[in-house]
Amino acid sequence: MMASWNGVIGYYRKFLPVTERTPVVTLQEGNTPLIHAKRLAAHICPGCELYIKVEGSNPTGSFKDRGMTLAVSKSLENGAKAIMCASTGNTSASAAAYGAKAGLPVYVLVPAGNIALGKLAQAIMHGAIVVQVEGNFDQALNIVKELCQEYDYELVNSINPFRLEGQKTAAMEVCDQLGFAPTYHVLPVGNAGNITAYWKGYQEYFSAGQISTLPKMMGIQAEGAAPLVKGMVIEHPQTIASAIRIGNPASWHGALEAVRASDGVIEMVTDEEILDAYRLVAREEGIFCEPASAASLAGVRKLYSAGCLTTGGTVVCTLTGHGLKDPDTAIGICAPPLRVNATRDDVMAALER
Ligand code: F0G
Repeated sequence: MMASWNGVIGYYRKFLPVTERTPVVTLQEGNTPLIHAKRLAAHICPGCELYIKVEGSNPTGSFKDRGMTLAVSKSLENGAKAIMCASTGNTSASAAAYGAKAGLPVYVLVPAGNIALGKLAQAIMHGAIVVQVEGNFDQALNIVKELCQEYDYELVNSINPFRLEGQKTAAMEVCDQLGFAPTYHVLPVGNAGNITAYWKGYQEYFSAGQISTLPKMMGIQAEGAAPLVKGMVIEHPQTIASAIRIGNPASWHGALEAVRASDGVIEMVTDEEILDAYRLVAREEGIFCEPASAASLAGVRKLYSAGCLTTGGTVVCTLTGHGLKDPDTAIGICAPPLRVNATRDDVMAALER
């Protein structure tokens, strides 16, 4: 794959709604690692084959790039004057980068004070116009929907169907890498587009004869932002996993349908469970993800303890975003490194402490 890899539209073109006339805007997203996580499995799901799909390895550090290459390419094809989104951070970073590559203006609305530092840096650095809204993601998305109806801006949140088309390639890639479909696919759920997209990808691969079984889809929400688990809109969602701090997911129906049709589950985990998994995967597997991503691993641990995962099953967990996006959370939960005088003895004393 490596020598000729030219992004997900290039590789999965026949499954995607593009033609020769579509100008392909790509940063060579996709083809991300699928890592066999044996050490972590011993802690959270002994007896299962645990694999991690490292979506933080995409060009802007999250899975959003798979959807954004499609959404931005189609925006160009359709003559959009600008692209716009609401975001908890990653969508804005991805839109800003792909918009820059396409030469389109990018407008993004983010919840003030509630997006990780690295994501804000990305959006600003790529030249997007970033507006911090005194409210949450759900409120920002409502405003974006209104403005995109009124003006000639292309909305690039996951309610844009091209976003899900692009994101479904992650499911196909997992099957290509494993050689078969997993027994379970576990992923964090916020606005619920990604789980909807994965299920679409698995189903299309099944229909195309590329796989002979379908996985059970397991969606994991943060306890303070778990509208799908609780069956009601959460007015004031709260969680340390700011990426999934969403109370009224746009793809509500798609997510529940994926879970129902695949005989999966929708579950929630506490912030403490998220942070435990966040630290554990970094220490046991050398993979640094952002807190929201670790919700999927915390979910595996909880589902396994509850007897919901069969021993011997193949469990694929998507880690949706890179840990470097949110250095504040990482530094906040670890002891700061010791600081000593620049002498051999002081350094040795510190190491032995
Ligand atoms: N993980 C990360 C790191 C995310 O950024 C998001 C969503 C999710 C999981 C959940 O995916 O919304 O498809 O269910 N981030 C969006 C954003 C909302 O604006 O960046 P989902």
